[in-house]
Amino acid sequence: MIKFTIITLFPEAVEPYLKTSMMWKATEKGLAEFELVNLRDFGLGPHKSVDDTPYGGGDGMLLRCEPVFAAIESVKARDSEAKVILPTPVGEIWNQEKARELPEGHYIILCPHYEGYDERILSIVDYKISLGKYVLTGGELPALIIIDSVVRLIPGVLGGEKSTEIESFSDGDNLEYPQYTRPEDFRGMKVPEVLLSGNHGEIAKWREEHSGRA
Ligand code: ADE
Repeated sequence: MIKFTIITLFPEAVEPYLKTSMMWKATEKGLAEFELVNLRDFGLGPHKSVDDTPYGGGDGMLLRCEPVFAAIESVKARDSEAKVILPTPVGEIWNQEKARELPEGHYIILCPHYEGYDERILSIVDYKISLGKYVLTGGELPALIIIDSVVRLIPGVLGGEKSTEIESFSDGDNLEYPQYTRPEDFRGMKVPEVLLSGNHGEIAKWREEHSGRA
């Protein structure tokens, strides 16, 4: 079983995706569990502040250690085995192999926001993960991408056997052979003859040749 606890200042941005389509199906079937923790609940003072200006000067605000540690420790108090993931553009680049090999267990995804975080937060982080060489405003989209890419691989989450079959040889870059559905002719763009032939041997060969692996 895999469980994700997402620590975020914007649970309202994250929740709808987890309540929709395959992520919701995974929850309903008991194949994955999601939990949202509002970082604001661990903020300091009457304003529940979570950030402050950087020592040494500079623009912007940084996430402070205290609320982040308190939020993570509150989750770990219930499950000391939980591992912490930090989405950050300077992390290890995420890919299909990493999604496939992430072991079952409980993952706390800490979503940073604003201009960054106090470096000491890294002392409580197990995995730093980057979604690519670009910068987003926060960790919420990366968290959802990580979750989606892992959860869709759990047997029983996607549709019929076919999806898992395709999955078993897919590896991120060129996932599948080209596929077509009705109509046979759309604005002059025709479905390849072989796919209409009913010849399963020839179809398999065509798919192999067009799978992007050859
Ligand atoms: N936070 C901001 N940008 C990011 C990225 N590219 N990957 C992961 N986390 C991020």
